[in-house]
Amino acid sequence: MSGPTTKKKFRSQEWFNNPDNPGMTALYLERYLNFGLTREELQSGKPLIGIAQTGSDLSPCNRHHLELAKRVRAGIEAAGGVPFEFPCHPIQETGKRPTAALDRNLAYLSLVEVLYGYPLDGVVLTIGCDKTTPALLMAAATVNIPAIALSVGPMLNGWHHGKRTGSGTVVWDSRQRLSAGEIGYDEFMDIVASSAPSVGYCNTMGTATTMNSLAEALGMQLPGSAAIPAPYRERGQISYETGKRIVGMVHEDLKPSDIMTREAFENAIVVNSAIGGSTNAPIHLNAVARHLGVALDNDDWQAIGHHVPLLVNLQPAGEYLGEDYHHAGGVPAVVAELMKANLLPHPNALTVNGKTMGENCANAQNLDAKVIRTAAEPLMRDAGFINLKGNLFDSAIMKTSVISKEFRDRYLSNSADPDAFEGKAAVFEGPEDYHARIDDPAEGIDEHTILFMRGAGPVGYPGGAEVVNMQPPAYLIKKGVHSLPCIGDGRQSGTSGTPSILNASPEAAVGGGLALLKTGDRVRIDLRKGTANILISDEELAARRAKLNGNGGFHYPKHQTPWQEIQRGMVDQFDQGMVLKPAVKYQRVAQV
Ligand code: FES
Ligand code: MG
Repeated sequence: MSGPTTKKKFRSQEWFNNPDNPGMTALYLERYLNFGLTREELQSGKPLIGIAQTGSDLSPCNRHHLELAKRVRAGIEAAGGVPFEFPCHPIQETGKRPTAALDRNLAYLSLVEVLYGYPLDGVVLTIGCDKTTPALLMAAATVNIPAIALSVGPMLNGWHHGKRTGSGTVVWDSRQRLSAGEIGYDEFMDIVASSAPSVGYCNTMGTATTMNSLAEALGMQLPGSAAIPAPYRERGQISYETGKRIVGMVHEDLKPSDIMTREAFENAIVVNSAIGGSTNAPIHLNAVARHLGVALDNDDWQAIGHHVPLLVNLQPAGEYLGEDYHHAGGVPAVVAELMKANLLPHPNALTVNGKTMGENCANAQNLDAKVIRTAAEPLMRDAGFINLKGNLFDSAIMKTSVISKEFRDRYLSNSADPDAFEGKAAVFEGPEDYHARIDDPAEGIDEHTILFMRGAGPVGYPGGAEVVNMQPPAYLIKKGVHSLPCIGDGRQSGTSGTPSILNASPEAAVGGGLALLKTGDRVRIDLRKGTANILISDEELAARRAKLNGNGGFHYPKHQTPWQEIQRGMVDQFDQGMVLKPAVKYQRVAQV
């Protein structure tokens, strides 16, 4: 399938083989010869393939890509290409202050510049940790040279005292036990460490497993590639196959815009519901779509995704972890179950191996029905996102797959006549304010309170903080109240099972409705109608708005770095993908 099959002149030859300009050609060439490459390799028209390396000591989730790249190189060379590995801006979800999301657009910008400015005919995108996947897909979308994604793979399952401990999810649970005095600090640390037993990305259905699965559902990875655990032998083998395949894609001129079509995004939305994917997915997929010029918004996520059942039984919505997901058959088995129930909207969407999603997955076997359920016996029906609107915001996402059965029956059930829920707002101005005030009994927070977090969007807290999943005051937890409804203009970790309303756009910092909310206001949320409103008169709302001055009247923390200031000045809202607004008009920039 791969191998030199065309006489097409590749873009790399504009650098390395331009007889009309021998001076420039020699200058371009000589420094690449100095580490042992030959003129034959650079001038004979072989595809030159970038390996966009996201692994480093600073990014442990993706660090195993440093090893896998050796197999990618071998695959590229076996197929007649020449590999060029280069570093991407490192992004580590858990280690980067103030938040790794701030760096997604920076890594995007930097990769666009590399892919455009250097003699590369195709690229392998080494994806894994949360923001690395969208950053690299967004860059591939903008540049539009042939590109294939390669997951680093999830970590092995974590275990503690015979129970599975999942990345992130175990932190939220054990943190509550620590607050309640059930475990001590050292045991807390041991439990959390047990959830990270090997190289690889988070083994839960957090943002990493979500985005790696969706990269496959979009058609950008080889079938079965997303779920293979990082340390498994198959991970090295699929790395080799990925290297071989990108060379074939360059010969076929199979580009991101041929694969990531509107149909592919619709498939990905459906798969996201079936896997119980992260609320970060709409932000990132909407961003990739915008860089391709494909129309996609949060109304699409509800319209296409809400009715889809939850099939994958992974934490936080379920019980299992990444190794189990792989043993059950990974993304192809999920897609096969969806196809059996006629739920995959576009089986004919093209994928990187030149076949359609339907051809790749129709015969995939579901090898463990406990881990991947059938559509006839799902973990939950109607498990996709709801897109809420009202005087609080134009769009905010709720992940319905993590809400309790009681809550769902009461507020969302389609059979009875569900209630709307009302509560009294407790409003926090960012995470520091929340930590300072939450446990103070004078705040009067009780089981009827709705917790609001504002100032946590892309502008208010540079990059948007994952802070909307707020735990109740310790005095309520001790009484057995383990969660309160949470709403905010920030994000929530994909590993959290809190039923929050997130990513509210526009955010308070740019004058969104949340900026008008006051502690003590009554708020009404109707999940079935998709509405979220402060219960005050239009006059009162208008009066409050008049009191806001420019910038939403919102006082946000000052910039700490140049990039924070630059991004705040040009970043779009979560529902618009949090993209850099001036970047969107640059599409297909390196297409020859
Ligand atoms: Fe990197 Fe979860 S923190 S994948
Ligand atoms: Mg995260």
